[in-house]
Amino acid sequence: MLRRTRTRRGHRWLTVMMAITSLAGAVVVLSPRLSAGAAAAQCPWMDPTQSSDRRAGELLGAMTLDQEISMLHSTESTMMTYYGTAGHIAAIPQLCIPDVVLNDAGAGVGDGQVNTTAFPDGIAQASSWDPSLQQQYGTALGWEAWHKGINVMLAPGVNIARVPMNGRNFEYAGEDPYLAGQTSAAVIKGIQSQNVIATVKHYAANNQETNRMTVSSDVNERTLHEIYLPAFETAVKQGHVGSVMCSYNRINTVYACENPSMLTDILKKEWGFSGFVMSDWGATHSTAPAANAGLDMEMESYNNGQYFGAALKTAVQNGQVPSSRVNDMVVRILRSMFADGLFDHPAVPEPQGFAAVVNTPAEATVARNVAEAGTVLLKNKDGVLPLDGIGKKIALIGQAAGGHGAELAYQGGGSSHVPLAGSVPVVSPQQGITQRGAANGDAVVYADGTVVADAVAAAKASDVAIVYANDSEAEGSDRPNLGLNYGACGLVTCAQLPVSQDQLIEAVAQANPNTIVVLNTGGPVLMPWLNQVKGVVEAWYPGQEDGNAIASILFGDVNPSGKLTQTFPASQSDLPTQTTAQYPGTTVAGDTVGPHATYSEGLDIGYRWYDTQNISPLFPFGYGLSYTTFGYSNATVTRTTNGATVSFTLTNTGGRAGAEVAQVYIADPAVSGEPPKQLKGYQKVSLQPGQSSRVTIPLDSRAFARWDTSRHTWVVDKGTYTIFVGSSSRDLRQQAGVTLAARTLAP
Ligand code: BGC
Repeated sequence: MLRRTRTRRGHRWLTVMMAITSLAGAVVVLSPRLSAGAAAAQCPWMDPTQSSDRRAGELLGAMTLDQEISMLHSTESTMMTYYGTAGHIAAIPQLCIPDVVLNDAGAGVGDGQVNTTAFPDGIAQASSWDPSLQQQYGTALGWEAWHKGINVMLAPGVNIARVPMNGRNFEYAGEDPYLAGQTSAAVIKGIQSQNVIATVKHYAANNQETNRMTVSSDVNERTLHEIYLPAFETAVKQGHVGSVMCSYNRINTVYACENPSMLTDILKKEWGFSGFVMSDWGATHSTAPAANAGLDMEMESYNNGQYFGAALKTAVQNGQVPSSRVNDMVVRILRSMFADGLFDHPAVPEPQGFAAVVNTPAEATVARNVAEAGTVLLKNKDGVLPLDGIGKKIALIGQAAGGHGAELAYQGGGSSHVPLAGSVPVVSPQQGITQRGAANGDAVVYADGTVVADAVAAAKASDVAIVYANDSEAEGSDRPNLGLNYGACGLVTCAQLPVSQDQLIEAVAQANPNTIVVLNTGGPVLMPWLNQVKGVVEAWYPGQEDGNAIASILFGDVNPSGKLTQTFPASQSDLPTQTTAQYPGTTVAGDTVGPHATYSEGLDIGYRWYDTQNISPLFPFGYGLSYTTFGYSNATVTRTTNGATVSFTLTNTGGRAGAEVAQVYIADPAVSGEPPKQLKGYQKVSLQPGQSSRVTIPLDSRAFARWDTSRHTWVVDKGTYTIFVGSSSRDLRQQAGVTLAARTLAP
């Protein structure tokens, strides 16, 4: 089978061939199974009627220091030898503690697993703006994991898209902290409903892959709290996430995984996080500093726990780490294990779990629904879409559309990837469009686009040309370092499509007036050809149901309803980061660890930047077309004890059933120093033609608050706040004001 693993140093992903039989045969660990009666007698903490706190405390009281230490790092000294998973902590049968099996993650059960579903990537999930669908996705993911014997999923990822060049943006939920928080809370609830702990990652300010192990994200207190932390806070407070993964990078010079301000003061004290912090794989750099800063678990651990194994025991014995801290580390892990059902509903033990076939039709349906709901219709001139005529000739062009080529673009690369060799049945766009077209009597001709003349000939001979263009983003590198030819752009401002695809699109557009571009990208790209084509569809990395999902959208079986979670810039010179000091960072005298990326743009990333600077983007945040139209009317705002409530009427004013993501933005009084407006609420509403619905969205006091750096807490400024309601950040249809008194909130 084809399997991805990494070298230990530098964590670069390599693809290696490995026989599944040798993988399965590598380690045999028997999970403990006691009868209920025996368990209750031997392990009183197995009583499910007690609280998780009490059970964890009782169990801790029965543990030796060695047993405690064994819970704090991976058991295996080699990557992924425990049945193809990312990490493993061995069971302690005499204490009824099950194996802890940790695995990736954000778009399906991956690493060395087989027969699992390849779901759409995080950016596609988020672009649905649909928390109930995102929760269904999380449930499907948790269900697959549990049946594979995995009880800690290393998802979701919620890092904010600061620069389009970040090679991992495709794993995340876009540029807005509120949206990323809501998305992650929904996915977490789904995962944890299946007796599996979710892990929100990578905490925090982990916004680039260039120098990812050493870069210091230099970000001020206000920006950190308002932009880079809220999604994690929502994961903790609303999603009740069991685990947080600290990131590779440094934050203001201090490694994220030994940063007391981040791990203890903010996460555990301010937010009241009662679960555990694990390090990213190889992100632990010390024993006492990391443990005392608030890191609870070292992952991936070489030499049986490089820092949190024997070295931690010694540090406890010589007083460098208080035993109360080690107890706290263990209690946090046990508490999440009790709270999320790991003791009461143990995951299917290995090796049966490893053999399980979990990519059932039900999971494929979820994958398809997410892909369809996350696809964004960007342009539809003259109603070129949907393709509902009869008996057309369709030229389908581009490597990502056909046969083997689709493998390029169904998911991004790295730890989130669910490999094809893991028996993933990817439906290519060629298969999906040809099959669906046949129902209309359409004939589909495919050209891979590597010979432009062939593509042009196919386009000339057809009624419609559909051109696929893609990038191939992957963990470990930013866009221009991925080995693709991005042409002239440098690392600092590279937002264009790679490998001459712009020229291919232009050539096809000249040959056929009805050209539609479908993009499989992990984030925004420039579109120098936009005026020459009639249609543009952003399908992201859509997972294994790729061809079926795009066919539903193109032929109108599904009305597009996805909206952008990132601003698409019109030009590279419009990006909020324009200096190497901002991105990818420069060296600072006296710091030999790595470069510093200076977040000097502050709060002004994404649409906040474009609004502040008054720059027109190519496509704004929140934008996405439908085959129908929606009207907004009668917005009213009422003050509540805890903020305000906005209500408005949404009407489907067109001829097709469809869903609209109604968005609420707030403009704070000028005195606040906040960006011109910020997303603070949204709701996706499905309506039949002519149907109206009264939509009500509550806005709590945090929606009106900014971080105050003198009081180190959230404050609401006295003044009038304008509440906008609309279809995108640049298509605001209604507005109303509300005047609030000054108020100080808890941090
Ligand atoms: C990635 C994490 C992942 C972990 C385990 C790391 O390199 O940054 O996102 O969960 O590996 O595979």
